[in-house]
Amino acid sequence: MEILIHKQLPNHKKLHPIDEGALGFGDIYTDHIFKMDYFEGKWQNPRIEPFAPFVLSPAAMVLHYSQTIFEGLKCYRHPDRKLALFRPQDNFKRLNSSAWRMAIPYLDEEFLLQATKELLKIDGDWVPSKPGSSLYIRPTVIATEPHLGVRPAKEYLFFIMLSPVGPYYPEGFAPIKIYVEDFYSRSAPGGLGEIKAGASYAGSLLATELASQKGYTQLLWLDSKTHKLVEEVGSMNMYFVIDDTIVTAPLTGTILPGITRSSVLTVAKDLGIKAEERSISIDEILETQKSGRLTESFGSGTAAVISPVGCLCYNDTVYEIGNGKIGKITQTIYDELVGIQYGLKEDTRGWVELV
Ligand code: COI
Repeated sequence: MEILIHKQLPNHKKLHPIDEGALGFGDIYTDHIFKMDYFEGKWQNPRIEPFAPFVLSPAAMVLHYSQTIFEGLKCYRHPDRKLALFRPQDNFKRLNSSAWRMAIPYLDEEFLLQATKELLKIDGDWVPSKPGSSLYIRPTVIATEPHLGVRPAKEYLFFIMLSPVGPYYPEGFAPIKIYVEDFYSRSAPGGLGEIKAGASYAGSLLATELASQKGYTQLLWLDSKTHKLVEEVGSMNMYFVIDDTIVTAPLTGTILPGITRSSVLTVAKDLGIKAEERSISIDEILETQKSGRLTESFGSGTAAVISPVGCLCYNDTVYEIGNGKIGKITQTIYDELVGIQYGLKEDTRGWVELV
């Protein structure tokens, strides 16, 4: 399919330069957006347009029944100024897993990569170069058909928007405080936990807000049945370093199969760090914390990268991890992964896709 291009003049980045050192997450958007419609049984009208608000019917099904999915990937500026995506094909593959689960029509993964690259060719000068900054890419599908009955929509909009970002958490690469949630659940077997559906994130807002009022940056979700097994933090997969082995929850259908998670496990094994995917209970974590065997904890995600965890709060007791400092294994994994993403270390695994 040919992508039509309607360019915006003037270039806002040049008119209002951004302060790359002060970037937060998700509030600044680039000049253009990629869009494509689904109607009459096929995806059509791929186009790049100036970034602008949408016109949407108040009856659009996404507004009533949350039929929407999204992805998150990043574009990094390498020292030679080239633009590099990190494992983009994996994101588009996961977008289709999400689409299948939400009864949204399949999207051509190769074409989505091509569209992303076309958009980056136009808005590429928005990719920041300061360490820790990058361009966050948000592919999204929404059900646009106006209809109030409950069924999969027959019309959709797919779009890709771009946002120059700094650290996801205000702490940056510094230990965050996590509240262990033992009442509300993020997902249940057979539910939406392993896909990127807007609805999952909506369902996590109240508990996260309550934890935030107590001073915690994120929630650690436990399994919905026993409230004992550790699952994930809504924006990150989680890891616990016990006896020098990284332990992370297995992909049993209720947690997100993170692309950064898969990269962490690969990098760890290649560096000779032991890593296990197994069920781990909050009781085991607290016991190993008390006996000194739990030395580090961190989370991983596209937005969050690698985020050290300084303490967990469970049942009103605060458990400090690694004296609240960044652990050695956490730092090693961070350096290796970030090194590859920013082109400072050799990409021996074919993860980097130049634009
Ligand atoms: C990502 O890491 O890309 C995500 O989608 C998480 C989101 C909560 C920002």
